[in-house]
Amino acid sequence: MKNRLEQIREKAISQITGCDTAEKLNEVRVAILGKKGELTDLLKSMKDVAPEERPKVGQMVNEARAEIEKVLEEHKSKMEKALREAKMRSEVIDVTLPAKKAELGHRHPNTIALEEVERIFVGMGYEVVEGSEVEKDYYNFEALNIPADHPAKDEQDTFYIASANGTGEILLRTQTSGVQIHEMEKGRLPIRMIAPGRVFRSDEVDATHSPCFHQIEGLVVDRHITFADLKGTLAEFAKALFGEETKVKFRPHHFPFTEPSAEVDVSCFKCGGKGCRFCKGSGWIEILGCGMVHPHVLEMSGIDPEEYTGFAFGIGLERIALLKYEIDDLRLMYENDIRFLRQF
Ligand code: DAH
Repeated sequence: MKNRLEQIREKAISQITGCDTAEKLNEVRVAILGKKGELTDLLKSMKDVAPEERPKVGQMVNEARAEIEKVLEEHKSKMEKALREAKMRSEVIDVTLPAKKAELGHRHPNTIALEEVERIFVGMGYEVVEGSEVEKDYYNFEALNIPADHPAKDEQDTFYIASANGTGEILLRTQTSGVQIHEMEKGRLPIRMIAPGRVFRSDEVDATHSPCFHQIEGLVVDRHITFADLKGTLAEFAKALFGEETKVKFRPHHFPFTEPSAEVDVSCFKCGGKGCRFCKGSGWIEILGCGMVHPHVLEMSGIDPEEYTGFAFGIGLERIALLKYEIDDLRLMYENDIRFLRQF
């Protein structure tokens, strides 16, 4: 009996201390101390021990049990501690490591230039409106005095989407000028608006052309609007955008929807008008087209040209951005290279 007990005790201790997981430890505990465990079995055989020996043997069994339980507890907490330490080691945070960089994007030069233009016109009391990129032939051409056989239509050859029965063709707009018509048709006068947006033409990509670019349309319609208002407005705009010293020059031009029409040049903000590489020696840089809204255009949109007059202008947004930020190739604008964008 005594030998058995000693065997069990030694075996238990060596098994316990050899355990490396909580599950194994539990198995060993059940095998020794459980209901059918070896030590429990041994207790059951106490009946075979001589009565006078029983108290002594009982005490020995109890001592062995207490010792095994103590070793079990100790090993359990030792294992838990090791586990905790391993976990801490694996989750350690090295605060000296360089942080992961969150790559922030950058506002596009087009966006920066547009916000600048919007700020200037909103400051003069203009509303910013939005047109749609998919447009009816009527709004893109007809209502702007560009009938089917007009050469201006050829110049702006575009992407046709569908030929809707009876309602004319549907296309990607070639200019933002159609927004003028939509605004005038609303019948809310006076109008003082700019309409920025994307336009499309079937042009080949090169340093100055892209099949998709942006324009900013402007329209003012009210009683007593004259060419002087147009000149004053655009002169103010040019000064606000390119600097107080900027001069404007109106060159006669032709647009079907304005009469008279002009192209506007600004004095070169690089050389002040003396002539440099930037303005190709002329001292002037073209920035937009404009004119007095053609009476026929007003009429077609339901406005009485005897009572109301107006002016309109169209600015190429990329052109403004390229000039302002001295970018020499339009293609750079569409590559979205963050290293390029970050410079502005
Ligand atoms: N829509 C013209 C173009 O794409 C630009 C333009 C010229 C707009 C004169 C205007 C304007 O409103 O009055 O070439």
